Amino acid sequence: MKRIQLARDADFATWRGLARAALAERLAPGQIEWISPDAAQADLFGAESERSGNDVPNESRETPVGHISKAGLALLRTILRHNDPQRFALAYRLLWRLQTEPALLAIATDPDIREAARMTQQIRRDMHKMKAFVRFREAANLSKEERRHFIAWFEPENFILESVAPFFAERFSDMDWMILTPIGSILFENGKLICDRTPCAPPDLKDDVETLWHSYYQSIFNPARIKTKAMRSEMPTKYWKNLPETRLIPQMLADAENRVAAMVATQNDGRAPVFHERHQAEWREREAQEEARGEALGGLPALSRALESCQRCDLCRYATQSVPGAGPEHASLMLVGEQPGDQEDLQGRPFVGPAGQVLDRVLSQVGIERDEVYLTNAVKHFKFVSKGRRRIHQTPGRTEIVACSPWLEQEIRLVKPKLIVTLGASALQAVEGRVSRLGTLRGHVREGNATRPPSLATIHPSYLLRLPEPERAQEEEQRFRQELTVARDWLRGRSA
Ligand code: URA
Repeated sequence: MKRIQLARDADFATWRGLARAALAERLAPGQIEWISPDAAQADLFGAESERSGNDVPNESRETPVGHISKAGLALLRTILRHNDPQRFALAYRLLWRLQTEPALLAIATDPDIREAARMTQQIRRDMHKMKAFVRFREAANLSKEERRHFIAWFEPENFILESVAPFFAERFSDMDWMILTPIGSILFENGKLICDRTPCAPPDLKDDVETLWHSYYQSIFNPARIKTKAMRSEMPTKYWKNLPETRLIPQMLADAENRVAAMVATQNDGRAPVFHERHQAEWREREAQEEARGEALGGLPALSRALESCQRCDLCRYATQSVPGAGPEHASLMLVGEQPGDQEDLQGRPFVGPAGQVLDRVLSQVGIERDEVYLTNAVKHFKFVSKGRRRIHQTPGRTEIVACSPWLEQEIRLVKPKLIVTLGASALQAVEGRVSRLGTLRGHVREGNATRPPSLATIHPSYLLRLPEPERAQEEEQRFRQELTVARDWLRGRSA
Protein backbone atom coordinates (compact mmCIF):
# COMPACT_ATOMS: atom_id res chain seq x y z
CA MET A 1 0.00 0.00 0.00
CA LYS A 2 1.41 3.39 -1.00
CA ARG A 3 0.61 6.34 1.27
CA ILE A 4 0.34 9.70 -0.44
CA GLN A 5 0.14 12.72 1.81
CA LEU A 6 -1.40 16.01 0.74
CA ALA A 7 -2.29 19.24 2.44
CA ARG A 8 -5.91 19.56 3.46
CA ASP A 9 -6.32 22.36 0.89
CA ALA A 10 -4.25 20.71 -1.85
CA ASP A 11 -5.44 21.91 -5.22
CA PHE A 12 -6.01 20.21 -8.53
CA ALA A 13 -2.48 20.83 -9.81
CA THR A 14 -0.95 19.21 -6.73
CA TRP A 15 -3.19 16.18 -6.90
CA ARG A 16 -2.69 15.88 -10.66
CA GLY A 17 1.10 15.66 -10.31
CA LEU A 18 0.81 12.91 -7.73
CA ALA A 19 -1.98 11.08 -9.54
CA ARG A 20 -0.08 11.13 -12.78
CA ALA A 21 2.99 9.58 -11.10
CA ALA A 22 0.80 6.90 -9.48
CA LEU A 23 -0.83 6.14 -12.79
CA ALA A 24 2.58 5.78 -14.44
CA GLU A 25 3.46 3.17 -11.76
CA ARG A 26 0.15 1.40 -12.60
CA LEU A 27 -0.96 1.68 -8.97
CA ALA A 28 -4.63 0.65 -8.70
CA PRO A 29 -6.88 2.79 -6.48
CA GLY A 30 -6.93 0.07 -3.82
CA GLN A 31 -3.13 0.22 -3.58
CA ILE A 32 -3.05 3.87 -2.56
CA GLU A 33 -4.00 5.55 0.67
CA TRP A 34 -4.56 9.27 0.15
CA ILE A 35 -3.90 11.04 3.42
CA SER A 36 -4.71 14.62 4.26
CA PRO A 37 -5.01 15.98 7.81
CA ASP A 38 -8.63 16.34 8.79
CA ALA A 39 -10.12 18.77 11.22
CA ALA A 40 -9.19 16.58 14.18
CA GLN A 41 -5.54 16.38 13.17
CA ALA A 42 -4.85 19.93 12.12
CA ASP A 43 -6.49 23.25 12.70
CA LEU A 44 -9.60 23.81 10.64
CA PHE A 45 -8.04 24.44 7.31
CA GLY A 46 -4.61 22.99 7.86
CA ALA A 47 -2.46 25.99 8.69
CA GLU A 48 0.42 23.67 9.41
CA SER A 49 -0.01 21.32 6.55
CA GLU A 50 2.17 21.57 3.46
CA ARG A 51 1.05 24.30 1.05
CA SER A 52 -0.44 23.19 -2.20
CA GLY A 53 1.81 22.44 -5.05
CA ASN A 54 5.18 23.11 -3.37
CA ASP A 55 6.55 19.65 -3.94
CA VAL A 56 5.19 19.05 -7.40
CA PRO A 57 7.61 19.44 -10.30
CA ASN A 58 6.35 22.00 -12.85
CA GLU A 59 6.61 19.58 -15.70
CA SER A 60 4.10 17.16 -14.17
CA ARG A 61 1.70 20.04 -13.41
CA GLU A 62 1.45 20.84 -17.11
CA THR A 63 1.19 17.34 -18.51
CA PRO A 64 -2.23 15.76 -19.01
CA VAL A 65 -3.27 13.01 -16.61
CA GLY A 66 -3.65 9.70 -18.46
CA HIS A 67 -6.27 9.34 -21.18
CA ILE A 68 -9.20 11.41 -20.21
CA SER A 69 -11.82 13.43 -22.05
CA LYS A 70 -12.37 17.16 -21.50
CA ALA A 71 -15.55 16.41 -19.58
CA GLY A 72 -13.71 13.92 -17.36
CA LEU A 73 -10.99 16.44 -16.65
CA ALA A 74 -13.55 19.12 -15.84
CA LEU A 75 -15.24 16.77 -13.39
CA LEU A 76 -11.97 16.01 -11.64
CA ARG A 77 -11.15 19.71 -11.44
CA THR A 78 -14.53 20.37 -9.89
CA ILE A 79 -14.47 17.68 -7.24
CA LEU A 80 -10.95 18.69 -6.24
CA ARG A 81 -12.53 21.95 -5.01
CA HIS A 82 -14.65 20.08 -2.47
CA ASN A 83 -13.56 20.05 1.15
CA ASP A 84 -14.15 16.31 1.65
CA PRO A 85 -10.75 14.64 2.27
CA GLN A 86 -12.11 11.64 0.34
CA ARG A 87 -12.02 13.73 -2.84
CA PHE A 88 -8.43 12.75 -3.62
CA ALA A 89 -9.22 9.02 -3.56
CA LEU A 90 -12.47 9.50 -5.46
CA ALA A 91 -10.75 11.56 -8.14
CA TYR A 92 -8.06 8.91 -8.54
CA ARG A 93 -10.66 6.13 -8.73
CA LEU A 94 -12.47 8.04 -11.46
CA LEU A 95 -9.25 8.73 -13.29
CA TRP A 96 -8.26 5.06 -13.09
CA ARG A 97 -11.62 3.81 -14.27
CA LEU A 98 -11.87 6.36 -17.10
CA GLN A 99 -8.77 4.81 -18.67
CA THR A 100 -10.77 1.69 -19.51
CA GLU A 101 -14.42 2.81 -19.12
CA PRO A 102 -14.83 5.82 -21.40
CA ALA A 103 -18.64 5.80 -21.00
CA LEU A 104 -18.42 5.95 -17.19
CA LEU A 105 -19.46 9.59 -16.93
CA ALA A 106 -22.84 8.80 -18.46
CA ILE A 107 -23.71 6.16 -15.85
CA ALA A 108 -25.60 8.27 -13.34
CA THR A 109 -26.28 5.28 -11.06
CA ASP A 110 -22.61 4.41 -10.63
CA PRO A 111 -21.68 5.08 -6.96
CA ASP A 112 -18.52 7.03 -7.89
CA ILE A 113 -20.39 9.16 -10.41
CA ARG A 114 -23.19 9.74 -7.90
CA GLU A 115 -20.68 10.86 -5.31
CA ALA A 116 -18.99 13.16 -7.82
CA ALA A 117 -22.39 14.62 -8.75
CA ARG A 118 -23.17 15.26 -5.09
CA MET A 119 -19.90 17.11 -4.62
CA THR A 120 -20.43 19.10 -7.82
CA GLN A 121 -23.84 20.22 -6.67
CA GLN A 122 -22.55 21.29 -3.26
CA ILE A 123 -19.76 23.26 -4.88
CA ARG A 124 -22.19 25.01 -7.22
CA ARG A 125 -24.41 25.91 -4.33
CA ASP A 126 -21.48 27.19 -2.32
CA MET A 127 -20.37 29.38 -5.24
CA HIS A 128 -23.88 30.69 -5.72
CA LYS A 129 -24.14 31.57 -2.03
CA MET A 130 -20.80 33.30 -2.02
CA LYS A 131 -21.78 35.42 -5.02
CA ALA A 132 -25.02 36.33 -3.33
CA PHE A 133 -23.94 36.90 0.26
CA VAL A 134 -20.58 38.61 0.18
CA ARG A 135 -21.02 42.09 1.65
CA PHE A 136 -18.29 44.65 1.13
CA ARG A 137 -17.59 47.34 3.66
CA GLU A 138 -15.55 50.38 2.83
CA ALA A 139 -12.06 50.41 4.30
CA ALA A 140 -10.06 53.56 4.93
CA ASN A 141 -8.24 54.66 1.81
CA LEU A 142 -4.67 54.90 3.02
CA SER A 143 -3.04 55.34 -0.35
CA LYS A 144 -4.91 58.58 -1.15
CA GLU A 145 -5.60 57.19 -4.56
CA GLU A 146 -8.93 57.63 -6.28
CA ARG A 147 -10.03 54.03 -6.16
CA ARG A 148 -12.08 53.17 -3.14
CA HIS A 149 -11.13 50.20 -0.99
CA PHE A 150 -13.56 47.60 0.27
CA ILE A 151 -13.23 44.55 2.40
CA ALA A 152 -15.48 41.56 3.01
CA TRP A 153 -15.47 38.47 5.18
CA PHE A 154 -17.07 35.24 4.01
CA GLU A 155 -16.94 31.59 5.07
CA PRO A 156 -17.20 29.29 2.07
CA GLU A 157 -17.48 25.57 2.69
CA ASN A 158 -15.32 24.46 -0.20
CA PHE A 159 -12.18 25.59 -1.99
CA ILE A 160 -13.97 27.85 -4.42
CA LEU A 161 -12.05 31.12 -4.18
CA GLU A 162 -10.27 30.76 -7.54
CA SER A 163 -13.58 29.86 -9.20
CA VAL A 164 -15.60 32.81 -7.92
CA ALA A 165 -12.81 35.41 -8.14
CA PRO A 166 -13.47 36.33 -11.83
CA PHE A 167 -17.13 36.97 -11.04
CA PHE A 168 -16.24 39.53 -8.37
CA ALA A 169 -13.47 41.05 -10.50
CA GLU A 170 -15.91 41.70 -13.30
CA ARG A 171 -18.69 42.93 -11.04
CA PHE A 172 -16.56 45.24 -8.90
CA SER A 173 -13.96 46.32 -11.41
CA ASP A 174 -13.98 50.00 -10.52
CA MET A 175 -12.84 49.61 -6.93
CA ASP A 176 -10.10 47.80 -5.01
CA TRP A 177 -11.28 45.08 -2.70
CA MET A 178 -10.34 42.08 -0.68
CA ILE A 179 -12.42 39.09 0.36
CA LEU A 180 -10.99 37.34 3.39
CA THR A 181 -12.02 33.80 4.29
CA PRO A 182 -10.82 31.03 6.60
CA ILE A 183 -9.40 29.25 3.54
CA GLY A 184 -7.60 32.15 1.90
CA SER A 185 -8.24 35.48 0.28
CA ILE A 186 -9.00 37.17 -3.01
CA LEU A 187 -7.38 40.53 -3.59
CA PHE A 188 -8.31 42.87 -6.43
CA GLU A 189 -6.05 45.89 -6.74
CA ASN A 190 -5.69 48.19 -9.73
CA GLY A 191 -7.30 45.60 -11.97
CA LYS A 192 -5.03 42.76 -10.78
CA LEU A 193 -6.57 39.68 -9.21
CA ILE A 194 -4.63 37.59 -6.68
CA CYS A 195 -5.96 34.47 -4.96
CA ASP A 196 -4.08 33.12 -2.00
CA ARG A 197 -4.82 30.08 0.12
CA THR A 198 -3.31 31.37 3.35
CA PRO A 199 -6.12 31.21 5.94
CA CYS A 200 -7.34 34.58 7.23
CA ALA A 201 -8.91 35.71 10.49
CA PRO A 202 -12.13 37.76 10.43
CA PRO A 203 -11.38 41.49 10.18
CA ASP A 204 -13.19 44.05 12.30
CA LEU A 205 -15.88 45.23 9.93
CA LYS A 206 -18.12 47.99 11.12
CA ASP A 207 -18.79 51.14 9.23
CA ASP A 208 -21.37 53.51 7.83
CA VAL A 209 -22.17 51.20 4.96
CA GLU A 210 -23.61 48.82 7.50
CA THR A 211 -26.05 51.47 8.63
CA LEU A 212 -27.06 51.99 5.00
CA TRP A 213 -27.65 48.27 4.57
CA HIS A 214 -29.81 48.30 7.64
CA SER A 215 -32.06 51.07 6.42
CA TYR A 216 -32.22 49.57 2.94
CA TYR A 217 -33.20 46.17 4.23
CA GLN A 218 -35.72 47.58 6.63
CA SER A 219 -37.27 49.57 3.83
CA ILE A 220 -37.70 46.64 1.44
CA PHE A 221 -38.88 44.24 4.12
CA ASN A 222 -42.54 43.56 3.53
CA PRO A 223 -44.09 42.13 6.67
CA ALA A 224 -47.19 40.98 4.80
CA ARG A 225 -45.13 38.65 2.68
CA ILE A 226 -43.06 36.77 5.19
CA LYS A 227 -42.22 33.26 4.13
CA THR A 228 -39.74 32.20 6.72
CA LYS A 229 -39.25 28.74 5.22
CA ALA A 230 -38.42 30.11 1.78
CA MET A 231 -36.27 32.78 3.40
CA ARG A 232 -34.24 30.18 5.27
CA SER A 233 -33.77 27.98 2.24
CA GLU A 234 -32.66 30.89 0.03
CA MET A 235 -30.55 32.46 2.73
CA PRO A 236 -29.59 29.64 5.13
CA THR A 237 -29.21 30.77 8.70
CA LYS A 238 -25.50 29.88 8.77
CA TYR A 239 -24.84 32.90 6.51
CA TRP A 240 -26.81 35.27 8.69
CA LYS A 241 -24.02 36.10 11.09
CA ASN A 242 -21.96 37.75 8.34
CA LEU A 243 -24.80 39.66 6.72
CA PRO A 244 -25.40 43.08 8.21
CA GLU A 245 -29.07 43.11 7.28
CA THR A 246 -29.92 39.78 8.89
CA ARG A 247 -29.20 41.08 12.35
CA LEU A 248 -32.48 42.91 11.94
CA ILE A 249 -34.53 39.89 10.97
CA PRO A 250 -35.51 38.56 14.41
CA GLN A 251 -36.72 42.00 15.49
CA MET A 252 -38.48 42.65 12.18
CA LEU A 253 -40.21 39.31 12.35
CA ALA A 254 -41.32 40.11 15.86
CA ASP A 255 -42.69 43.46 14.68
CA ALA A 256 -44.24 42.07 11.52
CA GLU A 257 -47.68 41.38 12.91
CA ASN A 258 -48.09 44.96 14.11
CA ARG A 259 -46.85 46.36 10.84
CA VAL A 260 -49.27 44.26 8.79
CA ALA A 261 -52.10 45.46 11.01
CA ALA A 262 -50.98 49.05 10.46
CA MET A 263 -50.80 48.52 6.68
CA VAL A 264 -54.28 47.07 6.60
CA ALA A 265 -55.53 49.95 8.72
CA THR A 266 -54.13 52.59 6.39
CA GLN A 267 -55.01 50.60 3.22
CA ASN A 268 -52.63 52.23 0.82
CA ASP A 269 -53.79 52.78 -2.73
CA GLY A 270 -51.22 50.62 -4.45
CA ARG A 271 -48.69 53.40 -4.67
CA ALA A 272 -45.11 52.49 -3.98
CA PRO A 273 -44.63 52.75 -0.23
CA VAL A 274 -42.18 54.50 2.05
CA PHE A 275 -39.14 53.14 0.23
CA HIS A 276 -40.08 54.98 -2.92
CA GLU A 277 -40.49 58.24 -1.13
CA ARG A 278 -37.40 57.71 0.89
CA HIS A 279 -35.35 57.17 -2.26
CA GLN A 280 -36.83 60.18 -3.92
CA ALA A 281 -36.07 62.22 -0.86
CA GLU A 282 -32.49 60.91 -0.70
CA TRP A 283 -31.95 61.57 -4.35
CA ARG A 284 -33.32 65.10 -4.21
CA GLU A 285 -31.24 65.86 -1.19
CA ARG A 286 -28.10 64.69 -2.96
CA GLU A 287 -29.03 66.63 -6.04
CA ALA A 288 -29.62 69.76 -3.98
CA GLN A 289 -26.26 69.31 -2.24
CA GLU A 290 -24.47 68.86 -5.54
CA GLU A 291 -26.14 71.85 -7.07
CA ALA A 292 -25.35 73.87 -3.98
CA ARG A 293 -21.70 73.01 -4.43
CA GLY A 294 -21.99 74.16 -8.02
CA GLU A 295 -21.46 70.67 -9.39
CA ALA A 296 -24.06 69.84 -11.95
CA LEU A 297 -24.92 66.17 -12.10
CA GLY A 298 -22.96 65.77 -15.28
CA GLY A 299 -25.73 64.56 -17.55
CA LEU A 300 -26.50 61.14 -18.89
CA PRO A 301 -22.91 59.85 -19.10
CA ALA A 302 -22.43 60.52 -15.38
CA LEU A 303 -25.75 58.88 -14.67
CA SER A 304 -24.69 55.76 -16.61
CA ARG A 305 -21.45 55.62 -14.66
CA ALA A 306 -23.29 55.91 -11.37
CA LEU A 307 -25.69 53.20 -12.49
CA GLU A 308 -22.81 50.76 -12.94
CA SER A 309 -22.46 50.38 -9.20
CA CYS A 310 -26.17 50.33 -8.43
CA GLN A 311 -27.08 47.90 -5.66
CA ARG A 312 -30.55 49.21 -4.95
CA CYS A 313 -32.02 45.73 -5.24
CA ASP A 314 -30.88 42.14 -5.48
CA LEU A 315 -30.92 41.91 -9.25
CA CYS A 316 -27.43 43.40 -9.49
CA ARG A 317 -26.02 40.25 -7.94
CA TYR A 318 -27.01 38.02 -10.80
CA ALA A 319 -27.12 40.22 -13.90
CA THR A 320 -23.98 40.70 -15.98
CA GLN A 321 -24.23 44.47 -15.83
CA SER A 322 -26.69 47.31 -15.53
CA VAL A 323 -28.11 48.56 -18.82
CA PRO A 324 -28.48 52.33 -19.02
CA GLY A 325 -30.81 54.12 -21.40
CA ALA A 326 -29.55 55.10 -24.85
CA GLY A 327 -30.33 57.96 -27.17
CA PRO A 328 -29.95 61.71 -27.57
CA GLU A 329 -29.76 63.73 -24.36
CA HIS A 330 -32.70 65.90 -25.42
CA ALA A 331 -34.89 63.47 -27.35
CA SER A 332 -38.50 64.60 -27.56
CA LEU A 333 -39.71 61.00 -27.29
CA MET A 334 -38.71 58.59 -24.53
CA LEU A 335 -39.66 54.93 -24.80
CA VAL A 336 -39.63 53.00 -21.55
CA GLY A 337 -39.46 49.18 -21.64
CA GLU A 338 -39.54 46.72 -18.79
CA GLN A 339 -35.98 45.52 -18.18
CA PRO A 340 -33.00 44.30 -20.21
CA GLY A 341 -33.38 40.81 -21.65
CA ASP A 342 -30.68 38.20 -22.13
CA GLN A 343 -29.02 39.97 -25.07
CA GLU A 344 -29.27 43.41 -23.54
CA ASP A 345 -27.71 42.08 -20.34
CA LEU A 346 -24.75 40.73 -22.29
CA GLN A 347 -24.30 43.73 -24.58
CA GLY A 348 -25.13 46.46 -22.06
CA ARG A 349 -27.54 48.26 -24.44
CA PRO A 350 -31.35 48.39 -24.41
CA PHE A 351 -33.52 46.71 -26.99
CA VAL A 352 -30.89 44.86 -28.97
CA GLY A 353 -32.51 41.40 -28.71
CA PRO A 354 -35.62 39.90 -30.33
CA ALA A 355 -38.06 42.40 -28.76
CA GLY A 356 -35.79 45.20 -29.97
CA GLN A 357 -36.04 43.87 -33.51
CA VAL A 358 -39.84 43.99 -33.38
CA LEU A 359 -39.66 47.49 -31.96
CA ASP A 360 -37.24 48.63 -34.69
CA ARG A 361 -39.53 47.25 -37.38
CA VAL A 362 -42.64 48.96 -36.06
CA LEU A 363 -40.85 52.24 -35.36
CA SER A 364 -39.57 52.41 -38.92
CA GLN A 365 -43.02 51.56 -40.31
CA VAL A 366 -44.43 54.45 -38.32
CA GLY A 367 -41.65 56.79 -39.43
CA ILE A 368 -40.02 57.23 -36.03
CA GLU A 369 -36.22 57.18 -36.20
CA ARG A 370 -34.77 54.98 -33.49
CA ASP A 371 -31.72 57.25 -33.32
CA GLU A 372 -33.92 60.16 -32.34
CA VAL A 373 -35.63 58.35 -29.51
CA TYR A 374 -34.33 57.91 -25.96
CA LEU A 375 -34.80 54.22 -25.11
CA THR A 376 -34.66 52.98 -21.58
CA ASN A 377 -36.16 50.51 -19.12
CA ALA A 378 -38.09 50.63 -15.87
CA VAL A 379 -35.58 48.24 -14.30
CA LYS A 380 -31.93 48.40 -15.27
CA HIS A 381 -30.80 44.86 -14.42
CA PHE A 382 -31.94 41.63 -16.06
CA LYS A 383 -34.13 39.47 -13.82
CA PHE A 384 -34.05 35.79 -14.74
CA VAL A 385 -33.99 32.23 -13.51
CA SER A 386 -31.43 29.78 -14.87
CA LYS A 387 -32.61 26.59 -16.48
CA GLY A 388 -29.52 24.68 -17.51
CA ARG A 389 -27.68 27.07 -19.77
CA ARG A 390 -30.73 29.17 -20.54
CA ARG A 391 -31.67 32.27 -18.64
CA ILE A 392 -35.42 32.64 -18.49
CA HIS A 393 -36.87 36.13 -18.16
CA GLN A 394 -38.79 36.92 -14.98
CA THR A 395 -41.12 39.86 -14.68
CA PRO A 396 -39.70 42.36 -12.19
CA GLY A 397 -41.69 42.80 -9.00
CA ARG A 398 -42.88 46.00 -7.42
CA THR A 399 -39.85 46.11 -5.11
CA GLU A 400 -37.46 46.10 -8.04
CA ILE A 401 -39.44 48.65 -10.00
CA VAL A 402 -39.59 50.94 -7.01
CA ALA A 403 -35.93 50.43 -6.13
CA CYS A 404 -34.95 51.33 -9.68
CA SER A 405 -37.28 54.31 -10.02
CA PRO A 406 -34.73 57.01 -9.05
CA TRP A 407 -32.73 56.15 -12.17
CA LEU A 408 -35.73 56.59 -14.42
CA GLU A 409 -36.68 59.78 -12.66
CA GLN A 410 -33.19 61.14 -13.27
CA GLU A 411 -33.35 60.17 -16.92
CA ILE A 412 -36.66 61.97 -17.28
CA ARG A 413 -35.25 65.00 -15.50
CA LEU A 414 -32.19 65.14 -17.75
CA VAL A 415 -33.76 64.26 -21.12
CA LYS A 416 -36.94 66.27 -20.54
CA PRO A 417 -38.89 64.38 -23.21
CA LYS A 418 -42.09 65.93 -24.50
CA LEU A 419 -43.74 62.52 -24.46
CA ILE A 420 -43.07 59.19 -22.77
CA VAL A 421 -44.35 55.98 -24.33
CA THR A 422 -44.50 53.14 -21.84
CA LEU A 423 -44.13 49.66 -23.32
CA GLY A 424 -46.02 47.12 -21.23
CA ALA A 425 -47.32 46.97 -17.69
CA SER A 426 -44.02 47.25 -15.80
CA ALA A 427 -43.07 50.45 -17.63
CA LEU A 428 -46.53 51.87 -17.01
CA GLN A 429 -46.22 51.06 -13.32
CA ALA A 430 -42.78 52.67 -13.15
CA VAL A 431 -43.90 55.89 -14.79
CA GLU A 432 -47.23 56.11 -12.97
CA GLY A 433 -45.74 55.15 -9.60
CA ARG A 434 -48.52 52.65 -9.08
CA VAL A 435 -50.14 49.59 -10.63
CA SER A 436 -52.53 50.69 -13.38
CA ARG A 437 -54.60 48.79 -15.90
CA LEU A 438 -52.87 48.89 -19.25
CA GLY A 439 -56.03 47.73 -21.03
CA THR A 440 -57.99 50.82 -20.06
CA LEU A 441 -55.19 53.38 -20.38
CA ARG A 442 -53.50 52.35 -23.60
CA GLY A 443 -53.48 54.21 -26.90
CA HIS A 444 -54.10 57.82 -25.94
CA VAL A 445 -51.91 60.60 -24.63
CA ARG A 446 -52.49 61.42 -21.00
CA GLU A 447 -51.61 64.72 -19.38
CA GLY A 448 -48.42 64.92 -17.36
CA ASN A 449 -47.88 66.51 -13.98
CA ALA A 450 -45.13 68.38 -12.17
CA THR A 451 -42.71 65.45 -12.29
CA ARG A 452 -43.93 63.46 -15.28
CA PRO A 453 -44.35 64.61 -18.89
CA PRO A 454 -47.42 63.54 -20.89
CA SER A 455 -47.42 59.81 -21.59
CA LEU A 456 -48.98 57.16 -23.75
CA ALA A 457 -49.24 53.53 -22.70
CA THR A 458 -48.99 50.64 -25.13
CA ILE A 459 -47.98 46.99 -25.12
CA HIS A 460 -44.48 45.62 -24.86
CA PRO A 461 -43.14 44.35 -28.22
CA SER A 462 -42.23 40.99 -26.66
CA TYR A 463 -45.96 40.39 -26.20
CA LEU A 464 -46.21 40.05 -29.99
CA LEU A 465 -43.49 37.40 -29.93
CA ARG A 466 -45.41 35.33 -27.42
CA LEU A 467 -48.71 35.17 -29.31
CA PRO A 468 -49.02 31.69 -30.81
CA GLU A 469 -51.56 32.50 -33.55
CA PRO A 470 -50.17 34.48 -36.49
CA GLU A 471 -53.47 36.32 -37.21
CA ARG A 472 -53.75 37.48 -33.63
CA ALA A 473 -50.12 38.56 -33.65
CA GLN A 474 -50.76 40.58 -36.82
CA GLU A 475 -53.84 42.25 -35.32
CA GLU A 476 -51.95 43.16 -32.18
CA GLU A 477 -49.00 44.45 -34.16
CA GLN A 478 -51.37 46.63 -36.18
CA ARG A 479 -52.78 48.06 -32.96
CA PHE A 480 -49.28 48.64 -31.61
CA ARG A 481 -48.45 50.49 -34.85
CA GLN A 482 -51.56 52.65 -34.51
CA GLU A 483 -50.71 53.55 -30.95
CA LEU A 484 -47.20 54.57 -31.89
CA THR A 485 -48.74 56.60 -34.72
CA VAL A 486 -50.83 58.46 -32.15
CA ALA A 487 -47.61 59.27 -30.28
CA ARG A 488 -45.86 60.38 -33.50
CA ASP A 489 -48.77 62.64 -34.54
CA TRP A 490 -49.09 64.15 -31.10
CA LEU A 491 -45.40 65.05 -31.14
CA ARG A 492 -45.62 66.45 -34.66
CA GLY A 493 -48.56 68.59 -33.55
CA ARG A 494 -46.44 69.96 -30.71
CA SER A 495 -43.43 70.84 -32.81
CA ALA A 496 -45.45 72.31 -35.69
N1 URA B 1 -37.29 44.21 -23.21
C1 URA B 1 -37.26 45.39 -22.57
O1 URA B 1 -38.22 45.80 -21.94
N2 URA B 1 -36.17 46.12 -22.65
C2 URA B 1 -35.10 45.76 -23.33
O2 URA B 1 -34.13 46.50 -23.33
C3 URA B 1 -35.17 44.53 -24.02
C4 URA B 1 -36.27 43.76 -23.93
